[in-house]
Amino acid sequence: MGISAPSFFQLGYYWEAKIFLVSVRLDVYTPLATGGDWGMTAEALAASIKTDPAFTERLLDALVVIGVVVCKEGRYRNTPVTSDFLVKTSPFYMGELMLLQDAEWEAWGHLEEIVRSGKPQVAGNLFMNRPDLAQMTLKVLYRMGQRMAPSLVEKIDLSSYHSFLDVGGGAGTFSIAFCKKYPALQATLFDLPQTLEYTQKYIIQEKGDASCNLEGRIHLIGGNFNTDPLPGEHDVVFLSDILHYQTYAENQALFHKLYKATNPGGMVVVKDMFVGEEQPGWNAIFSIHMMVYSEKGRCFKGSEVTAWLKQAGFCEICEVERNTVLVARKM
Ligand SMILES: C[S@@+](CC[C@H](N)C(=O)[O-])C[C@H]1O[C@@H](n2cnc3c(N)ncnc32)[C@H](O)[C@@H]1O
Repeated sequence: MGISAPSFFQLGYYWEAKIFLVSVRLDVYTPLATGGDWGMTAEALAASIKTDPAFTERLLDALVVIGVVVCKEGRYRNTPVTSDFLVKTSPFYMGELMLLQDAEWEAWGHLEEIVRSGKPQVAGNLFMNRPDLAQMTLKVLYRMGQRMAPSLVEKIDLSSYHSFLDVGGGAGTFSIAFCKKYPALQATLFDLPQTLEYTQKYIIQEKGDASCNLEGRIHLIGGNFNTDPLPGEHDVVFLSDILHYQTYAENQALFHKLYKATNPGGMVVVKDMFVGEEQPGWNAIFSIHMMVYSEKGRCFKGSEVTAWLKQAGFCEICEVERNTVLVARKM
């Protein structure tokens, strides 16, 4: 049936996105939180974030329309959602995600040229050549992973396995989550040496219960999974959010390495953002983001991943989460 007429006429208005992103850049929400239930006047907020008072009031009114701030009798305050995700003292702060989206603003301005020419405008990917953005991305992935890793861990039974290889493991979110659930599990996290500097910090930060001994159980190995062999053989090989940075051919080759790194009887777990088979779903929009913001990334279909798994030798392929997680076995 497609889009309704009112929604259709809203489509071109990217204004709201920029208003919102600028509000995060200005960090409107942290000072607003200090106003508590009473909130804060636009003037007081402007003094706190060093902006023009009249224009700050207009910005706040627009944020009320967007639904991220509420206003009563000239005083503005956060909604429950902005209190959780955009106040810097909140344990769930996700402002870096919006800062990353804002950092991509210029690149999105080239979308037409990219589509016309078929040529990317970015060299490599941010993990290779943008340490500032890589660090921010890892922080965002870590926070998102903290929200979703516990439910994934519950869906995949590793109770009969002892060793776990996290390929491109990033901040270590999933190694940490699985090691916490399975105290006998030993993990190896393989990633670029520059990323491992951050990984170490996240593992130390997550130490938690001393009996977990995460530092002693998550072994970090530096390397490039496209050009280096993967280390050792493991009962479980885990790959999360790697495929959409790579070409078809690179992924195809990587699956052969994953197979080699899996013990007979072991399991591979692949998590990514797959484009739906019948309806593309939101991941098709994310695939445009990869077109704009990486040299060769894109989202693949689950059927393409299934083909790579089979070509590599894996069997008993099964979807654990729709368009997100596939598991398979090595006989
Ligand atoms: C999107 S992050 C995913 C991190 C983690 N797996 C997760 O799901 O939270 C991609 C990770 O792949 C790593 N990476 C990218 N290219 C790589 C390569 N060629 N060899 C090894 N690691 C790579 C990056 O350093 C980064 O940690």
